[in-house]
Amino acid sequence: MAKLYVNPNVKKGHINPELQGHFSEHLGRCIYEGIFVGENSQIPNENGMRTDVVEALKEIQVPVLRWPGGCFADEYHWMDGIGPKEKRKKMINTHWGGVVEDNSFGTHEFMELCRQLGCKTYINGNLGSGTVQEMSEWVEYMTFEGVSPMADLRKQNGHEEPWRVDYFGVGNENWGCGGNMRPEYYGDLYRRYQTYVRNYNSDRPVAKIACGASADDYHWTDKVLETTFDHGWGFMNGMSLHYYTVPSGNWQKKGSATDFDEKEWYRTLKGTLKMEELIRRHGAIMDQYDPQKKIGMIVDEWGTWYDVEPGTNPGFLYQQNTMRDALVAGINLNLFNKNCDRVKMANIAQMVNVLQAVILTDGDRMVKTPTWHAFNLYKFHQDAELVESSVETVETGLEEGFMIPNLSESVSLGKDGRLHVTLTNASLTDAADIQAIFSETRVKSVKAAVLTGSMKAHNTFDTPDTVHAQEFTDLTVNGNQVSFTAPACSVMHLEVEI
Ligand code: AHR
Repeated sequence: MAKLYVNPNVKKGHINPELQGHFSEHLGRCIYEGIFVGENSQIPNENGMRTDVVEALKEIQVPVLRWPGGCFADEYHWMDGIGPKEKRKKMINTHWGGVVEDNSFGTHEFMELCRQLGCKTYINGNLGSGTVQEMSEWVEYMTFEGVSPMADLRKQNGHEEPWRVDYFGVGNENWGCGGNMRPEYYGDLYRRYQTYVRNYNSDRPVAKIACGASADDYHWTDKVLETTFDHGWGFMNGMSLHYYTVPSGNWQKKGSATDFDEKEWYRTLKGTLKMEELIRRHGAIMDQYDPQKKIGMIVDEWGTWYDVEPGTNPGFLYQQNTMRDALVAGINLNLFNKNCDRVKMANIAQMVNVLQAVILTDGDRMVKTPTWHAFNLYKFHQDAELVESSVETVETGLEEGFMIPNLSESVSLGKDGRLHVTLTNASLTDAADIQAIFSETRVKSVKAAVLTGSMKAHNTFDTPDTVHAQEFTDLTVNGNQVSFTAPACSVMHLEVEI
């Protein structure tokens, strides 16, 4: 029997809703088809946004959306995407699939999408191939309320009021697709560009995000901070981190999304657990400069990256999504919660039809993936207080070097006054008997849900409901304890009334 200890009286930090954020790039069928179909589409839509997709995203309470990239961001010139649609430039999306980008989804459309979702906005600016003036004017266009050339242009284009930009990324992957820079050089450019990302409204400031490292490039984190850090507070509110889970660890042959064996299952989950080490080690470097943790770690790209589905455009990064992805999501979301003192936002890549998507579409059809269902179980942590917890684990796996702890958990005290426990069981064979012990309290009642299935189980357009969460009632409450069995290959949520 594994003991799960929870101490509701020890608060460990605030879980920003943004830890369950999303990312949407002009890549493949994420924006076009997946979200935006245009006002004249046969597919039901509101101002061009698919109603079915927006409804499904609202259900998981998308807290923040990052846009327009990704690598696309450092090639994006925002003025191409404003004004009358028929006059907007048509161009080739050279980075992703070589298809025509007609710029019909631009700043106004993104803001409309966020309005419909009721989420915060995270715009990623172009530092790689754009000018300081261009970045500065975009911020002015979006957020300035008074009289100015850009505010006037926005009004001419039909939006009188400024929008709220909650987060602004000053470049993306500038060590790679965003300009192949060295960290010292990027650090200097960051200092310059961010100066002109003006805060026009003191009551709704724009949080500035610097481009952080890829995976375990600790040198990047250190040198960017060293270059920028004499600059005083307010110059940087967050620093990004990108880490993708690639089952084989080989970018040339990553592995299939649905056709994999048990060894690959454990290799994938071992790979995803590296996130813990990355947060710890990048966090330790950040602590040297910023011991008060004022700068958030922003994991604004994470998730699985497989070989594309056979027969699809390799540049579209379209992949299916199984119970393995649900486990990846559950493990990472637990990790983000547990590190909420430093991790202030995380954005799964990507929201629809790209990489570890929560939604897949095909024409007018849509499915919620196992990852969507995992997010739906975890949404109760948004805006909650992390409480102290730990769980006893055993090693599970099939190969030396790829053994992993069977269980992961996190627990929060929600605004609803309930404790929310999320738990993953990564073992493919062994259910785990759990005795949850809530110290110094009495458990009044528990409601629970479980997401489970075979490792390759997934939802298709013909069978959209194969994987879905189910109510879980097989729990015994006794005083301050709750006993239950977590099935093999499962993600669970317990709502505990105390
Ligand atoms: O999410 C796909 C790509 O992965 C993004 O465009 C880029 O930032 C990263 O390399």
